[in-house]
Amino acid sequence: MASQHELWESDAEARMLENRINGFWNPDYFRNVLLPLFNFKAGDKVLDVGSGNGALTLLLAKNLPDVYFTGVDITPALVEDARQQAQKLNVENVAFQEGDALQLPFENDHFDATVCQTVLMHLADPAKAITEMGRVLKAGGTFVAAEFHLLNYDKPVESDLPVSSLEDDIAISRYIQLLIQGYRASGQGDLKMGGRVPFLAKKAGLHIVDMRINDRLTHAFPPYEKPSEHMALSELQGWENLIKDPAYRSWLTAAMIAGGGTEADADAFLELLPFHDLSVFNGKSDFSFVWLLNPVLLITIARKK
Ligand SMILES: C[S@@+](CC[C@H](N)C(=O)[O-])C[C@H]1O[C@@H](n2cnc3c(N)ncnc32)[C@H](O)[C@@H]1O
Repeated sequence: MASQHELWESDAEARMLENRINGFWNPDYFRNVLLPLFNFKAGDKVLDVGSGNGALTLLLAKNLPDVYFTGVDITPALVEDARQQAQKLNVENVAFQEGDALQLPFENDHFDATVCQTVLMHLADPAKAITEMGRVLKAGGTFVAAEFHLLNYDKPVESDLPVSSLEDDIAISRYIQLLIQGYRASGQGDLKMGGRVPFLAKKAGLHIVDMRINDRLTHAFPPYEKPSEHMALSELQGWENLIKDPAYRSWLTAAMIAGGGTEADADAFLELLPFHDLSVFNGKSDFSFVWLLNPVLLITIARKK
């Protein structure tokens, strides 16, 4: 079975993460709604935990050139990738280093803010990571966590794909439940983490300030003129590559077996995913879709007393 770490190291996963630099948030919402809530000030030191290849760190750093960001991640290849992305984008107010979210390599009361994006959902002990994020925060500092909360299978809301049968929809719902259970049972994390975060943060002694939801709705309509439509298409391509990746397949199979399913369930699930032959999306076709491609992200904003 591919471990979670092998998966992070895989090229297909890295390319998927790369897409996220602009992927989860519409810029106006990020800038005008979220950043004022985060309330970072010039000179602040902010830690991004599980920074991956820098999607959130770089987005913040580009928007807030007077704030200094540190990204910490357990996967060396992604730390290196993040450094290269920063160079490529000419972002100077960032540094990336290796480290474990469960044992952050920083002193108590060091940062003005700690943030994370789709990281707690992958940890067996998210409570410990939240406690660590609180420990390294100064009094009055801000905690932000943007985490998935899988509501349902993220198939197209509407599209030109053939409508799936009721039997297939029911089968997919079952496979998703097996995956959620398997994720939890094998200690890989929780696909419904978004809604758990404020409860864990409260337990860790933080004061909950606000909760928000990401505002992105993926869509593409020919002739695909908007950059966001190109990104949507390349995101689909990313899924096509990912489900062909043997490491992904073996990880998914193991997770579904841990959830009470079988290898055949995993194969059937992959077969039902509409990501197999995406030549239809190559820009020549007149294919349209509206898709909740990423599950909903819930954002918890809290403060250290
Ligand atoms: C889905 S990625 C998210 C990356 C980035 N935050 C983003 O939004 O693109 C999850 C990240 O968590 C990292 N990670 C997993 N376990 C970790 C741990 N114990 N400590 C630090 N990072 C960890 C992985 O290496 C990976 O980069």
